[in-house]
Amino acid sequence: MKEINQSISEIPIIDLKRQYYSIKEEIVKAVEKVLESGRFILGENVKAFEKEFSSYCGAKFGIGVASGTDALQLALRACDIGANDEVITVSNTAFPTAVAISYTGARPVFVDVDQTYTIDVFKIEDKITGKTKAILPVHLYGQPADMDPLIELAEKHDLKVIEDACQAHGAEYNGKKVGSLGDIGCFSFYPTKNLGAYGDGGMVITNDEKIAEKLRLLRNYGQTKRYCHEIKGYTSRLDEIQAAVLRVKLKKLETWNNARRDNAKLYSKLLKKEIVTPIERQNCKHVFYLYVIRARRRDELQEWLKTNRISTDIHYPTPIHLQEAYSDLGIGKGSLPVTEQFAGQIMSLPIYPELTKEEILRVADVINNFVNL
Ligand SMILES: Cc1ncc(COP(=O)(O)O)c(C=O)c1O
Repeated sequence: MKEINQSISEIPIIDLKRQYYSIKEEIVKAVEKVLESGRFILGENVKAFEKEFSSYCGAKFGIGVASGTDALQLALRACDIGANDEVITVSNTAFPTAVAISYTGARPVFVDVDQTYTIDVFKIEDKITGKTKAILPVHLYGQPADMDPLIELAEKHDLKVIEDACQAHGAEYNGKKVGSLGDIGCFSFYPTKNLGAYGDGGMVITNDEKIAEKLRLLRNYGQTKRYCHEIKGYTSRLDEIQAAVLRVKLKKLETWNNARRDNAKLYSKLLKKEIVTPIERQNCKHVFYLYVIRARRRDELQEWLKTNRISTDIHYPTPIHLQEAYSDLGIGKGSLPVTEQFAGQIMSLPIYPELTKEEILRVADVINNFVNL
């Protein structure tokens, strides 16, 4: 391995401190107000943020929960999905997408992805069985899945559509925000997300009042009013401090998303043609939670970047169907060829809104100078 050149500054894959310092005053004030209120669970900030975020997304109801994983699990449970059911999703995603399905007792059924890294809608119908209850597309890396044909298919087979929008706050499909297109949309506010809290958090959005009511029970002990438990619910609430932080940050989301898009545009312009750069689906707004390239000699390129003090990541190195945790499904190598091929070639570059033009130029320059492209 080559030695790391310590004389140049490091470009990290993400730097949350830069963003914090740009909004520090507002954040400190908002958090202080919560601390002084003495109310930390299901108070006015959660209520206000649920309204603000759901209306930003174009949905009627928002239910704040403890994480994106819980958003998915509770959404599935709100649709009465459980043991002996099947839910169609992808294997090229974050592990929680699949495990949230498993938590309910249902079985994830994986479909391959297309060149946009999202579910290949032409391969869904073959996987629908009598047990299928829902399709759970993932708007991966900030790119909307192809929702029109997917919803048409779901309607034809009487299936629910639950969107995993954990990586796509503010992304648009035909002018509509993702999360508002299917029956239920699920979001994570994990700190690195386009809209990230300073801890864990999540939200479910929907236009269906009955589903919203059920979700409110599910997240809070199944409680209709104090000490009256209609169902065996969970303890999964967004807290007041995180909601207060998110209310400040939501006002900046469009600006930050546009900065991510500008950064992506610049990378795509600068990188040599040997690098496969991300495509944006037609009539969509990709919000670049991640900027994912493909390269033939990915591992060597990643090492080369590391020696030049540029950190990268791989989202995700092992598809879920090949993870030990899912060996019980008995899906072997070769079953999802596109997903498996991409796993060996993909690499995420730094893309956060605060990244400078000089840093992007340096990253692109280092990649373009890699002799083995
Ligand atoms: C696509 C996707 N789904 C689900 C989740 C789960 O979100 P959380 O970490 O908030 O539980 C994440 C976050 O990592 C994600 O990226």
